[in-house]
Amino acid sequence: MSLEMKMERNHCDWEQLKKEEAIFSLANGKIGIRGCLEEDFLIKNSYDNNTYMYGFFEKEKINYGENAYGYAKNHQIISPVPSGHGFAVLVDGETVSLVEGKVIKHQRIFDMEKATLNRLLEWESKTGKKIKIKSSRTILQNPKIKEDSLMSFEIEPINFDGEILIQSFYGILENDIDVNGDDPRVKNTLLKTLQYQYTVDNNSVNFISKALNTGVSVFAKFNESIDFVSNKYITKMNNSVIFNYKCDVDQGKHYKIICSGRYEFDEFIEEINLDEIQLLRSNDEHMKLFWEDNMVKIEGDTNLNSAIAFNIYHLYQSVGRTNNVNIAAKGLSGAGYEGHYFWDTEMYMIHQFIYTQPEIAKSLLMYRYNILPKAKERARELGIKDGVLFPWRTIDGEENSAYYPAGTAQVHINSDIAYAVVEYYKATHDDEFMKTAGIEILVETAKFWIAFGDFINGEFCINGVTGPDEYTALVNNNYYTNKIAQYNLLNAINYVKKYSYSGVTENELEEWHRAASLMRLPYCDEKQLTMQDDSIFDKAIWDFENTSKNQYPLLLNFHPMIIYRYQVNKQADTILAHYLFFAEENAEQINRDFDYYERITTHDSSLSKSIFGIVATLLGNVEKGYEYFMDTVYMDLDDKHQNVIDGIHAANMGGMWLSLIKGFSGFTYDKNGIPMFTNRIPKEWKSIQFNMKIRGSKIKINMIKDKTEASLLQGEEIDIILDNELITLKK
Ligand code: BGC
Repeated sequence: MSLEMKMERNHCDWEQLKKEEAIFSLANGKIGIRGCLEEDFLIKNSYDNNTYMYGFFEKEKINYGENAYGYAKNHQIISPVPSGHGFAVLVDGETVSLVEGKVIKHQRIFDMEKATLNRLLEWESKTGKKIKIKSSRTILQNPKIKEDSLMSFEIEPINFDGEILIQSFYGILENDIDVNGDDPRVKNTLLKTLQYQYTVDNNSVNFISKALNTGVSVFAKFNESIDFVSNKYITKMNNSVIFNYKCDVDQGKHYKIICSGRYEFDEFIEEINLDEIQLLRSNDEHMKLFWEDNMVKIEGDTNLNSAIAFNIYHLYQSVGRTNNVNIAAKGLSGAGYEGHYFWDTEMYMIHQFIYTQPEIAKSLLMYRYNILPKAKERARELGIKDGVLFPWRTIDGEENSAYYPAGTAQVHINSDIAYAVVEYYKATHDDEFMKTAGIEILVETAKFWIAFGDFINGEFCINGVTGPDEYTALVNNNYYTNKIAQYNLLNAINYVKKYSYSGVTENELEEWHRAASLMRLPYCDEKQLTMQDDSIFDKAIWDFENTSKNQYPLLLNFHPMIIYRYQVNKQADTILAHYLFFAEENAEQINRDFDYYERITTHDSSLSKSIFGIVATLLGNVEKGYEYFMDTVYMDLDDKHQNVIDGIHAANMGGMWLSLIKGFSGFTYDKNGIPMFTNRIPKEWKSIQFNMKIRGSKIKINMIKDKTEASLLQGEEIDIILDNELITLKK
């Protein structure tokens, strides 16, 4: 195993262990388990030891103190499914754990090459009995395999013979965490309407989990095998069951339990495969291919390589693999943000998939296509006569944002999705997708803008909306929103013409064109600055000097009304627009805007730094780009936002990939659609190498200081531009 692909931690520090629940979480885009300790079902020292599954969610009515027409009606909350990763050993009644007896050695290795978390615990009881436990937890990645999880738990008495008790646990852990004060980013659990029933049959447990309000059910089955003789008895609880094995063990011998589990929305009768070697082999094969497609390597910094792999791997774990799920803001590593899908997917995360596993990117877009009917209904509900309005945050397509100024008002979500459709097409030329689904997304979102915006004094205005920056709300003409809406309209026109799409009239096309060309893009001549929105410069600048470090993030310390009165940003907004449309604006302008907006941006959102870093790099300030990048790549590993306990920051992970590929490697398209790369690697690195797929061809890029090389690994020959030189990559 290469060093870069594994992360090792050797400590018993509970504060760190709780963070590692998210950092060492494992998932396969379907189910995810937190990196809690095996014996947690007994010692209950974790923050959140649940297993989550995309698509298993509950809902409850939002109770507004003061309701208003059109407010989102329901909360949707990703909900726990039964866990199958609890194992423990008791020696003379003492639990082998970090809280009893004495720990001789504790090691955990997060192996990203094999999608496995390994643990070694050497322990001594009060009476001096020493025991070694090796456990291994894999969430199986190969879609050809029906099983989702494989656990193994192996015990070796080091210096004694005698009786021990081994336990395995299946079900719901009921030490669920509390809703944590006022932090809107923390999960909100509701277990009252969740129902878990199970039956036990020899060595297997079958669960049915039901969310009564949404009506979603999940069928889970666990099967275990043991390689030792024992006296077995079963302890049944409400939502869980424990298999107990009393056995006489001999010093130096090994005793092992293996368990695998499978989760489905439909009932299934097949037996569970318990062939450890076979399951691991198929998993390894899959992961090998994954890493071939996703290879990114920096020469000159081993730790950095492993941090890069960490981000790439987590994003892959987090992405849903079917058309009816997406990527939650925290992936499956925790229930922060209640498992909701946001614009994070289209603006930050989908790009890694577009260029390495385009079939996954397509499935993410198909999710949006599938929720179009709900988005249409929502637009009508709000009184918008045409088009669709995608939900700001959701699980099944219904709008879930209870606080509309930083929720529903972020109508830019429509064009963010349209933008991703176009990005996907540029990279794949997948006409089939465009004709059947993509075009409809472009058309319906374009229609929305005409129905929602207004022609005022010769300009097309989009008033009363919130842009990406959530410290500024309900403004007129947010530059980002208008700029991306313009792009949305122009692309809708192009693709309607390209495919002779019949659902749009000539008049409509003209109207789209008029709106796009008259789009208001606020600019201040006096300051020579792009205006984030019409009113930005009417406000005073936030008093940064008298804001202490512990008052950040501002959202936890100031009422929104106070924040909204000032020029202060949570995250990239105008700078995000400049990142998207960099080539359309002159660099001096972007430079001026960058300096200005950087000064008023707190980066309280994890979606901010990657974008500032990319724009700094594109502007030629690679040093600054590098600084932002280092904060981006280590955001979760170093818990820079101090909330990784609630789950990883998946959008930032996508931002990390974008920083490498679109920032330091300058990947973009020229005006004829030819992929181009420009070497801007930081002086700290000797080289960067990565693979990507474009239009069916897999290519390898190698950027060394002052030199860039490329080769074709698979597929047809392809033209690319390397550091301004057009070349054809041939077999
Ligand atoms: C950010 C949003 C983001 C959400 C989920 C918020 O803090 O401001 O832009 O969509 O987190 O990641």
